[in-house]
Amino acid sequence: MNRHKQPEPINGRTMTQYASDPWRPAFHIAPRTGLLNDPNGLVYWDGAYHIFYQWNPHDCTHANKNWAHAVSHDLVRWEELPIALTPEDTFDSHGCYSGSAVADGQELVLIYNGNVRDADGTRQTYQCLARSTDGVHFQKLGPVLSGPLPGYTAHFRDPKVWRDNGEWLMVLGAQTAALEGTVLLLRSPDLVSWTLVRELLAPGEFGYMCECPDYFCIGENDLLIFCEQRSEGGIDSNLAGYVPGVLSVTTRHTAFRRLDHGRDFYAPQTFEAPDGRRLMLAWMGLPEQGDAPSTAFGWMHCLTLPRELSVVGGRLRQSPARELVALRKSHLGSYGLAVSGTMDLVDARSDTFELGLAWPEPASGVAKGTASCRSFTIDMRVGGIERTTLALDFAARSLRLETVRPDGVIQDLGHADFPADVAVCDLRIFVDRSSVEVFAAGGALVLSARVFPSPGAEDLRIRADGTLTLDRLDVWKI
Ligand code: FRU
Repeated sequence: MNRHKQPEPINGRTMTQYASDPWRPAFHIAPRTGLLNDPNGLVYWDGAYHIFYQWNPHDCTHANKNWAHAVSHDLVRWEELPIALTPEDTFDSHGCYSGSAVADGQELVLIYNGNVRDADGTRQTYQCLARSTDGVHFQKLGPVLSGPLPGYTAHFRDPKVWRDNGEWLMVLGAQTAALEGTVLLLRSPDLVSWTLVRELLAPGEFGYMCECPDYFCIGENDLLIFCEQRSEGGIDSNLAGYVPGVLSVTTRHTAFRRLDHGRDFYAPQTFEAPDGRRLMLAWMGLPEQGDAPSTAFGWMHCLTLPRELSVVGGRLRQSPARELVALRKSHLGSYGLAVSGTMDLVDARSDTFELGLAWPEPASGVAKGTASCRSFTIDMRVGGIERTTLALDFAARSLRLETVRPDGVIQDLGHADFPADVAVCDLRIFVDRSSVEVFAAGGALVLSARVFPSPGAEDLRIRADGTLTLDRLDVWKI
């Protein structure tokens, strides 16, 4: 996080440890110590953007969840504020879990999940309120929904609330008594008394639990985001995606689409900017992930960049928030460039940069490659055999991100095919010390992943199978 005021280190972490840490993000929100997970309470309130996030300040485990708080006027520089919510009450003793924020009159109100465990470890769940008049100090008001509604288990959490036609609406992640994941819609006149409207998903389609739902409209398109948890295990057992047209469709939702095809993307939340843009951030991590190398420096996980959402042909597109151009420092640019074989971008060596590539859209509208290029790869963070490679195959219309670690082990960081109806003619990539975010084809395909390259592994090169003709190539150091 880019902080104006570096807060006092806690837990014995010293400034020297910050300085020697090769993986601390330069322009993503990350915890100074401990573990971060879901973004919470995203809101533009009283002239500033507020981000809260799940934070265990004490160690890199999923315990003791507080709501950390950061504020920004430009979505670029974030200032850390005091912790907003601490798990110390009977209704949230085992975690102030995820939720959202709304402006109610002059107050900023947080609606969050109070997680409690009995002496025998049984889970209890409460949806709670907290309010603030200054946007810094929050007064807890306690539960407004105690326990699950009849027919649901205690996996009943992550309230996302918004104002609609003079009433409050909430989507809530839930598990039915039949142990199936679903999302509930509730309504309230006053944020205090809530009644169930209905389930938004057809029964039995979405694993054993749906976490972190979010609902919004872009133009005529209504969309429901949620995270599906399945019991198969493996990389696809926790998936963040969306279904379109959810308030009008009550039958099957065959169109669950992943939001991001990278390995590290979960618990996204959206909010509206003052100019009407729908912005989204997510946790660049996954539940049940083992320790990341950054735990050696006392911290783990970060958030994604803020992204702007749009809908084209019923499909969500994501692009980096336009404010992020302010991050750009020195520029290396080239127009009308032909890359044959390997091109080393020697002057672009860095561990923090934005890379942009654009090539001519094929006349047919279906990319078969630029004239004589079948595929190309971008090798980032290269040092010795170590590298992080993005491979774009024009014939297969596919994109793959993988990393080769210093020990030679290849790790898949995510792959996907381009949707049939999009033109494959551009890439924007953000590299920040221990992360890569790829926005391809106008944001129709996005991949986010964490990587932990060795210090000094900073070479950047493009390898073309054939000749890749680019309209432009830009590298901005950040
Ligand atoms: C998703 C999640 C939420 C929960 C929070 C706890 O990552 O499991 O469902 O509220 O994290 O930290």
